[in-house]
Amino acid sequence: MRRLSAVIGVVAVSLAWSTPAFATSSGITGQSGKDGPTCSTCHQGGTAPTVSLEGPSELAPGATGEYVFIIRGGAAKTGGVGLAVDNAGATLQAGGTGLKKLGSELSHASPQPFTNNELRFTFSLVAPATDVTLTLFGAGNSSNADLSSDGDRAASTKLAVKVGKGSPTPQPDDGGDDEGGCAAAGGAPVWGLAMAVASRLLLRRRRS
Ligand code: HEC
Repeated sequence: MRRLSAVIGVVAVSLAWSTPAFATSSGITGQSGKDGPTCSTCHQGGTAPTVSLEGPSELAPGATGEYVFIIRGGAAKTGGVGLAVDNAGATLQAGGTGLKKLGSELSHASPQPFTNNELRFTFSLVAPATDVTLTLFGAGNSSNADLSSDGDRAASTKLAVKVGKGSPTPQPDDGGDDEGGCAAAGGAPVWGLAMAVASRLLLRRRRS
């Protein structure tokens, strides 16, 4: 009995270890850009697509918003995505075809075909019950359908969503890489700068 559970343990551990390296065509977590890395760590040699994350930038607490992650260009035969949110009270739900839930994240269930140089993943975000400003992260891979990680390339983007009145203080910038540019989050640095200036003014007033 003990030996059996040891064997099961070893199999379970080796399956868990091999998943990221060998089965990413059926989805992968931790590569949305939220924690830093994206699909481009492994997927190399192709040209980067442009990606965008579209949907409401404000939600009422507990409300559900519909979002779409769009990949355009690159190798553009097939593609996949990694989607994550930086708030534990928020939930991501797979929308149309091609997406599945992996832990708290969403990823492609299998490589999805492009149509007219474009690939769309629809999903929803259920906002937490409390006021907060959260960030959605997405990395999209544009692949050449050779079932290897060569000749592909990914890009990532993010979108800030204000829930209710939003966070009392701005979220610290996590400095993740944004190969695809991130027009959608362009407001965040300006807001941060404004807050920095404001707090410096306050400090100066307090000191004098
Ligand atoms: C740890 C390395 C690694 C990371 C990170 C990775 N992949 Fe992969 N990916 C692979 C390998 C290896 C293959 C080929 C084997 C397979 O099909 O799983 C692959 C295959 C794929 C394919 C099929 C490619 C083709 O040309 O047919 C897609 C689509 C894909 N991955 C999407 C993604 C997405 C989307 C991400 C990021 C959210 C990602 N991968 C992150 C290693 C990785």
